[in-house]
Amino acid sequence: MTRTLITGATDGIGKITATNLAKMGQEIIIHGRNERKAQQVVEEIKQDSGNENISYLISYLIADLTDMTAIQEMVNDFYKEFDHLDVLINNAGAVLDDTIVKTKDGLEATFALNVMAPFLLTKLLLPALEKSSDGRVINMSSATYRQAKPNKSDFNSFENKSGQSRYGTSKLYVILNTESWAKKLASEGIQNVTVNVSHPGAVATNFGQNSDNGWLNNLVYKIALKVMPAPENGAITNTFLASDSGVEKISGAFFDNKKKQIQPKISVEEQQLAQPLFEYCEKIAAQFN
Ligand SMILES: NC(=O)c1ccc[n+]([C@@H]2O[C@H](COP(=O)([O-])OP(=O)(O)OC[C@H]3O[C@@H](n4cnc5c(N)ncnc54)[C@H](OP(=O)(O)O)[C@@H]3O)[C@@H](O)[C@H]2O)c1
Repeated sequence: MTRTLITGATDGIGKITATNLAKMGQEIIIHGRNERKAQQVVEEIKQDSGNENISYLISYLIADLTDMTAIQEMVNDFYKEFDHLDVLINNAGAVLDDTIVKTKDGLEATFALNVMAPFLLTKLLLPALEKSSDGRVINMSSATYRQAKPNKSDFNSFENKSGQSRYGTSKLYVILNTESWAKKLASEGIQNVTVNVSHPGAVATNFGQNSDNGWLNNLVYKIALKVMPAPENGAITNTFLASDSGVEKISGAFFDNKKKQIQPKISVEEQQLAQPLFEYCEKIAAQFN
């Protein structure tokens, strides 16, 4: 039975993806940051899917997936119960306030949550994924990567005062890191683990509802909630990438919200950031083995 761990699965796209995969008979481990909510969601998914193989992992510390120690502890909890993992869906992500928040690890919070958390989880869970005959890592990006303002001397984007712009930048970094992971695994002869990007498309979830990005952007998010497609649409590609046998050998690719593999529009200058970005992330991750 395929065992899948999904971060940010207590709401939105992650919760729907978890339910879809549970209905297909996969064993699901949801990640949440609030134990009561996680317990409740596990029960809901069991009822909805008729699948009893649903459990949860919590990142307990208050700062959550922005906190590298919380991630390390969560992975330790994983290894206490499980040996192998087939699918890791790095789904948790958010646009945060315009006001910069520096985490206790010295990272900008958007970068920590959207870029470093998937990176560290991939690194720490790789031994479990390698035990799978068909290991898959799925990273969530967004169309906003096209508005990225990358900066080689400031990967955290501390100098960028717009929360939305930091978000778009972080989602470009997700794509670059996905490509780098795929190359690294291939160069190390790890053929049984793939890493791909899923773009869910804009859908009506809690996304952006609690962030403060100036009155106009805040209003746009509130209006968007009423007009955007249902959240189920955002789970189509994740569900596909986590279950379809046709993508088993594809790695380093970008899939749009209709399950189609496309080439992301990344400039030559942005592409040149892939290696320094990956090295920067590796340096941070090395502190959390
Ligand atoms: N919705 C869209 O239109 C859209 C478009 C493009 C990309 N995306 C991407 O899709 C992914 C899922 O977004 P969504 O729309 O489903 O958002 P959502 O409804 O806000 O759900 C986000 C999930 O991530 C969790 N989360 C948020 N911040 C966290 C933190 N600091 N630590 C740990 N967990 C955290 C949330 O936990 P709680 O349940 O505790 O709040 C929730 O389970 C994100 O990566 C987002 O960037 C979304």
